Amino acid sequence: MASYPFLFVRFLLFVLPLAVGLLWAVPTVALADGDHIHGGESHHPQLELPPGGKCVKPTEWMRRNHMDFLKENRNLAVREGIRVKSDSLKNCATCHTSREKFCDRCHTYVGVAPNCFECHHYPK
Ligand code: HEC
Ligand code: HEC
Ligand code: HEC
Repeated sequence: MASYPFLFVRFLLFVLPLAVGLLWAVPTVALADGDHIHGGESHHPQLELPPGGKCVKPTEWMRRNHMDFLKENRNLAVREGIRVKSDSLKNCATCHTSREKFCDRCHTYVGVAPNCFECHHYPK
């Protein structure tokens, strides 16, 4: 059975730093969140979002994964001949009607330039 002094030492070595660490971590996480890129009111870039409705996947998931998702679907279509209509670039444009005010705005902000639009038409 653990002795009292041992528990006290454990408190000093482990529990205390953990608590102090949490005190630091919470505001840091909150600040970092303010830098996230999305269409919220006070964040940049300002994205033009569809007036209502939902994306083809949950928004947060889409924010992180749309690139892999689109490329995966391209591979399916080109290599296997399987087409998932809801996942095509053309379908994105039915809701996100302006590439300039949505896709490009975010890509410019993070410094990526997908080459897809050299071949795929997407309304400016
Ligand atoms: C049926 C309409 C619709 C289609 C089709 C659609 N979206 Fe969306 N998308 C939305 C809506 C509405 C939102 C905002 C949802 C919200 O505010 O939570 C959104 C949000 C997003 C976001 C996050 C934006 C932000 O605030 O950070 C990304 C990225 C995105 N869509 C990419 C795509 C891509 C890529 C496609 C094509 C594969 C696509 N969407 C197809 C309606 C659509
Ligand atoms: C919320 C910000 C945001 C929005 C809105 C957004 N993207 Fe992206 N997109 C990114 C980020 C960040 C990357 C780079 C990811 C990386 O480098 O791993 C990216 C990368 C991509 C890529 C992969 C590029 C490559 O060559 O690897 C494609 C394709 C893409 N986006 C398509 C779209 C389309 C189409 C739209 C509009 C319907 C859109 N994105 C809207 C943030 C966004
Ligand atoms: C050199 C020209 C070229 C480039 C660049 C290109 N594609 Fe394609 N893509 C094609 C062609 C050609 C097809 C087959 C078209 C068809 O069969 O209808 C295709 C098919 C697709 C499809 C399946 C069909 C559809 O619309 O759903 C997706 C998804 C797709 N590409 C996404 C992308 C993405 C994302 C990028 C950028 C990372 C990209 N493509 C870059 C030429 C290109």
